[in-house]
Amino acid sequence: MKIIIDTEENIAKRAAQRYVELLKEKPDAVLGGATGSTPLGLYAELARLCAAGEISFKDVKTFNLDEYVGLDGSHDQSYRYFMNKNLFEKIDIDINNTHVPSGINTEGCEQYDEEIKAAGGIDLQLLGIGVDGHIGFNEPGTPWDSVTHVVELEQNTREVNSRFFSSIDEVPTHAVTMGIKTVMNARGIILMAIGKSKAEIVKAFIEGPVTEEVPASILQLHPNTEVYLDPEAAALLSK
Ligand code: F6R
Repeated sequence: MKIIIDTEENIAKRAAQRYVELLKEKPDAVLGGATGSTPLGLYAELARLCAAGEISFKDVKTFNLDEYVGLDGSHDQSYRYFMNKNLFEKIDIDINNTHVPSGINTEGCEQYDEEIKAAGGIDLQLLGIGVDGHIGFNEPGTPWDSVTHVVELEQNTREVNSRFFSSIDEVPTHAVTMGIKTVMNARGIILMAIGKSKAEIVKAFIEGPVTEEVPASILQLHPNTEVYLDPEAAALLSK
């Protein structure tokens, strides 16, 4: 794993340059998307670069990590809505080339892995990390060989995410998520973490053992992963 530590603003810019380089080399790359607070700076920078003509997504395909079960794309807390609003509507992508797992038709969701494969596989997967080490919604204990599946969300994850809902009761109890194997199949991975609430888990997944109890720790075994951290998230790293 390559670790990059810089200010929140600079990690967004430096991660965005990875996309510029990739799309120069492969304009029809397949990108894996994430939601949450962490990628917002990166998405704003990609939108800015696109408006400035420095990057184009017109031949790009995207596959997002996850979606809440029970929310359709018109719900303002659905991840489809988030992606449209924060990225897809601000860049020159063909919306038909964007994929977010369905939170409504979840039966057969493992087909999502086949769709990714048919598109040529993911060139660059973006990840955030939960304070419990989750990537996508793969909570601690998720098997390494998991593909896209429905999960019950940990109470702690629901509590953390309740900041986006009017009350915790409105936070869905289940989500559909790419599995660990789906994520590990990506040819390149960028994980971003910002803020002191992530410092302990950042240390654990980078310096601790590779264990299903810390889902992100599997990334130690991925051949091409970059981790972008702000100084607060990196504060407990020993080297
Ligand atoms: C979102 C996702 C989650 C988040 C994680 C961190 O698509 O898959 O794993 O990346 O919960 O969320 P934030 O960035 O809000 O701290």
